[in-house]
This record gives sequence, structure tokens and C-alpha cells, in this order.
Amino acid sequence: MTTPADRLSPVYTGLPLTIFERMSGLARESGAINLGQGFPDDPPPQALSDAAVRAFSTRSQQYPPMTGLPELRDAVAAFYAREQGLDLARDHVVVTSGATEAVACAILAVVRPGDEVIVFSPAYDVYAPMVRRAGATPVFVPLAPPLWCYDEARIRAALTPRTRAMIVNDPLNPAGTVASDDDLAMLARIACEHDLVAICDEVWETVRFDGRRHRSLLAEPGMESRAIKIGSAGKIFGATGWKVGWLIGAPEMAAVLAKAHQFLTFTTPPMLQWAVAEGLADPAIPRALHERWSASRLALLNGLFEADFAVTANAATWFACIDLAATGIALDDATFAERLVREAGVATIPVSALWEGDAAPTHVVRLCHCKPLATIEEAVGRLARWREGLGHG
Ligand SMILES: Cc1ncc(COP(=O)(O)O)c(C=O)c1O
Repeated sequence: MTTPADRLSPVYTGLPLTIFERMSGLARESGAINLGQGFPDDPPPQALSDAAVRAFSTRSQQYPPMTGLPELRDAVAAFYAREQGLDLARDHVVVTSGATEAVACAILAVVRPGDEVIVFSPAYDVYAPMVRRAGATPVFVPLAPPLWCYDEARIRAALTPRTRAMIVNDPLNPAGTVASDDDLAMLARIACEHDLVAICDEVWETVRFDGRRHRSLLAEPGMESRAIKIGSAGKIFGATGWKVGWLIGAPEMAAVLAKAHQFLTFTTPPMLQWAVAEGLADPAIPRALHERWSASRLALLNGLFEADFAVTANAATWFACIDLAATGIALDDATFAERLVREAGVATIPVSALWEGDAAPTHVVRLCHCKPLATIEEAVGRLARWREGLGHG
């Protein structure tokens, strides 16, 4: 018998609950500490909230321009000139309702039915369903743990005459690794040789702890006319619910991307756009957040280290990953995560849930560090005690 859901797209009816919803749901049910889904517990910087409140009472609350407030588009361009040395103007920037919408716009504007799109596993869970909904096929190329490096031979082997684009998430969620200069040059070479568009999800660009400034694939030779760079104020300012993001591309591309945006959300709340424009102009705000997150990251890494957990190398994002096999824990990541949340009261994300394609590694779990230090200390204590109970202490 046909059910109401059978009348809907199999791209969505076939999808399980996302791992983020599942683990957050389990955390809520059991009152566990949630180091699964990535969001800070602390409020965003006061100056940012003040700017939004001011905009609420002094600015128009009607539809802002479809491509974004000119002031925000200018602020985004100035921010990237200051932070990454990019030479952008207002016409390169389209403001979206979060990076998620930006990814959707990019895929819908670039991909045609029947195309193939290279997606690197592990991948942020938005990419593959959106590629499929656009009528194209995601072709998964694995990044191998523990360093999650790009493998040129595997990328080249995955290319076909139908390959239209690659989606590059750098820095990488979930692993927190950063593409090397050689990787960026290699990805750019392949994109140019095969006339590919690179959809560059760089939402973690400012959440870096290696003291290096982010290098965008957009800045590689030949990429100016084929890279679409995506950013998120939610990550830059630790305000994930704000959902203000943007697409950056050559003006001719940006004009077409704007058409995809026009028929998805059309626009983004103007009060938040005003506030983000103010925030981007003030380097003290990201600096303060960087200090806060450096401390929370160190607390998690040191705590795990002292409790004898093996942590994979990482340089960016709000995440750190435990290597279960190297720690001597014989459980697979999904079992570990399910048991940990129920038995120890700590929610994590099994990295295999963000993997499609063959040979998913099943020995890595992701933990979010942007939490108060006392929360991290309590979570690490629970992890260590639970592990002792497993007989591996
Ligand atoms: C790689 C990546 N892309 C996009 C997003 C979504 O960003 P936004 O909240 O701005 O839609 C996230 C959020 O975690 C992410 O990790």
C-alpha cells in the first residue's frame, strides 16, 4: 500500500535521521553532556548581540536586497582582504541564510542532471543528498586517517567525462585537519585540467589553532574563475543559530549563484546582516573568540591525553577526534558512541556516520570542545571512568 511518504522524493525518504539529531536526541533523553553536535554553550560576543538589537530598533525589517545588504557584502570583501589577502569586491559576494543554503545554491547552480560530483569522505552530511536532489551522482573519494590527506591518484581515478565539480571542505569537519599547500595546488591543478568547478566550503577558516592564516583554494592559480568559496558568520562568531552565510565567486558566477538563492530563500534577516557587517569590521571580536576556543581546545586535548586517549592530529574547527583502535578500545565507533552516551553520559559523533563509499573507518569518534572548561573537565572524567570499566584503563 502506498503511504503518504511514498509520494515524496526517495532522496529524502531513504535518509535516516542525521547523526547529529540522533546523538543530540539521546543526550537530551539521558541528560548527557553533549559533545556531539557542534555549537558553543556560551553566548556570542556581546558587541554582536548589541549590534543586532540596535539594528532591530533602528533599521528596516522589510526584505533587504536579494544579494544581501551592500554594507555586508562590502564588509565580507574587506574581511577577506584583511584576513586572507583576497582581492574581492561587493560583486563577488552573495549573502545567504547560512552556509547550508550557500552549499545548496552552489550545487543547484553548478550541477546538471547526469553529472558527477567528487565528494571527499568523511563529508559534512549536507553535500550528498543535495547533489542527488540536483539529479547528479556523488562520487566518493576517501581521505585516509589518521591525517585525512588528499590522494591524487584516487582523485584522478574517480574522474570521468561527466565529472562537473568537486566539493572541498577545508578545514575539514569532522577531523579538524587543514589541506596542505601542496594539496591545494594539486586540487587546483586537477580542477583546471578537467574544467571542474570547486565548491569550497571554508566555514571553519577562522577557527584555526596552528597560527597560520587560512589559504583559500580560490586563491590558487586558475581558480578565480572556477571556485565558489562559502563562509558562515555562525562559525566566525560562534552564533550557529544566526544562519548568515555567503557565497563568493567571480562576479559573472556570483550573478548566477544569486539566481539559485533567489528561488531558495531570496533573502536573509536584515538585522542579522547589519550585525554581522559590524562584527566583521572589528578584529577584536574574532580575537576574543579565538582565545576562548584555544583554551577549550587545550582543555579537551590535555584531558584526553592525561586519561591516555589517542587523539588524531588536528589544527582547526571546534572538534577533536579520538582514535579508538590506537587507544586500545575494541568497540566500533557507532557502538562506542551509543554506549558512551547511555552509560557514561557523554554524547559524541561516530565519524563513520559521515562516510559514504567503501571501507569506512570505524575507529574514530568526534568530540566538540567549544564548551565551558568545567563541562569539558566533567566529560573527560566520565570518559576516563567509563573506559576503566571497559577493562582498558
Ligand atoms: C563543513 C560545514 N559546512 C556548513 C555548515 C553549516 O553552516 P551554517 O550553520 O552557516 O549553515 C557546517 C556546520 O557545522 C559545517 O561544518
